[in-house]
Amino acid sequence: MKTVHLQIKIEEYESIDELTSDDRILLEKAWLACDSAYAPYSKFNVGAAVLLANGKIVSGNNQENAAYPSGLCAERVAMYYASAHHPGVAMKAIAVAVKSDVVSLKDPASPCGSCRQVMAEYENLYHTKLRIILGSPHTKIQILEGIASLLPLTFYAEGLKK
Ligand code: THU
Repeated sequence: MKTVHLQIKIEEYESIDELTSDDRILLEKAWLACDSAYAPYSKFNVGAAVLLANGKIVSGNNQENAAYPSGLCAERVAMYYASAHHPGVAMKAIAVAVKSDVVSLKDPASPCGSCRQVMAEYENLYHTKLRIILGSPHTKIQILEGIASLLPLTFYAEGLKK
């Protein structure tokens, strides 16, 4: 038996003003995308913005449904939009922000497990690590380089090979 220790690196910033302009622009787009979320049930508006390798930015937000599991998170709305409209173009970074009148937000919201799995799929497809930027203008901001930091021991398509 041996014990394997994994380490992750998280950069933390106290304010959006400390970010590079590329990171700040992406986070501001995610923050803006919160305004058009459809989240009447949770009142937890999430916005996500994806930076593509061709420089374009696409955004999305959470879309809820009266049948709760039918809704979709902001991250997946944004990534699926990116893949649907820009197939073959790698995703370089994703920013995720939350706006809510009912939930107090001191810390950045962290992507759910399903969204992490989708990030892993596109990283693997494009052989490009995703820069993951979490936070808002009113919280501290966390930046991680690559999905392995959020989803270690990831399941990839290679696992399906016969
Ligand atoms: N949500 C996201 O959009 N992204 C996440 O990573 C976590 C949760 C949404 C789903 C639902 O609409 C609301 O936040 C409350 O869970």
